[in-house]
Amino acid sequence: MKDDKIVKISLGQYMVSVSNDRISLYDNNARYSEFSIDNFDIHFGYLKEMIKIMNNIIKINRINKVDSKYNILVLGFGLGGAPLNFSNYEDISSIDSIDLDYNLFRLFKKITHSHNISVSKKINYLHGNAIDYLKYCNENNIKYDFILDDIFESSKKVDYDLGLVYNCLKNDGVFFMNVHYNPKSYSNMLKRDNYKNVGFVENNEYLVYAQK
Ligand SMILES: C[S@@+](CC[C@H](N)C(=O)[O-])C[C@H]1O[C@@H](n2cnc3c(N)ncnc32)[C@H](O)[C@@H]1O
Repeated sequence: MKDDKIVKISLGQYMVSVSNDRISLYDNNARYSEFSIDNFDIHFGYLKEMIKIMNNIIKINRINKVDSKYNILVLGFGLGGAPLNFSNYEDISSIDSIDLDYNLFRLFKKITHSHNISVSKKINYLHGNAIDYLKYCNENNIKYDFILDDIFESSKKVDYDLGLVYNCLKNDGVFFMNVHYNPKSYSNMLKRDNYKNVGFVENNEYLVYAQK
């Protein structure tokens, strides 16, 4: 039988390739996203660290009989590796993810369709500027349990007023940032914005985290 699943596809500055059960997205300079087809396992260190922290919070809340469902905002959809992985968790009820570039949603649709990947309805796609969306959440009292800042222009981290995130978190909500350099300076900015439990962990790149 002819197997016509996509193994390589390009659109604009992006290239998606499939090999050894992994789907990877590259732009001209950087690997943006990667996940395993069968279980949406992810291979980036910052995401592995973020999942450990989220699992811990969910576990502690369960022990304390806090009956919660969690919503997540992912700034920077890429090829949806993080949103797909988060959709595996029963306790996570919705995953909003915003990206500037509509081509990425197109690529995601093509590649998931081609590989018969069943995409959870918990994932909501938002097309637009993440910083504008944070302002919109501030104005409209929209709040999340977890927010991940994963916005990059190629390999360059997008900087903005981190104070915008604070009001988009529920009480005790946690903000995570994927950071390649200067984790200390990002942590210090978050401390100045009154977050508690601020820290960072290195796993290839850095994950900076802070709790409201
Ligand atoms: C590293 S990728 C995100 C990877 C993704 N979280 C994943 O799990 O696969 C960075 C993304 O940030 C997006 N981006 C850059 N600036 C943005 C902005 N101001 N608003 C929304 N998305 C932005 C890029 O288009 C790119 O898709």
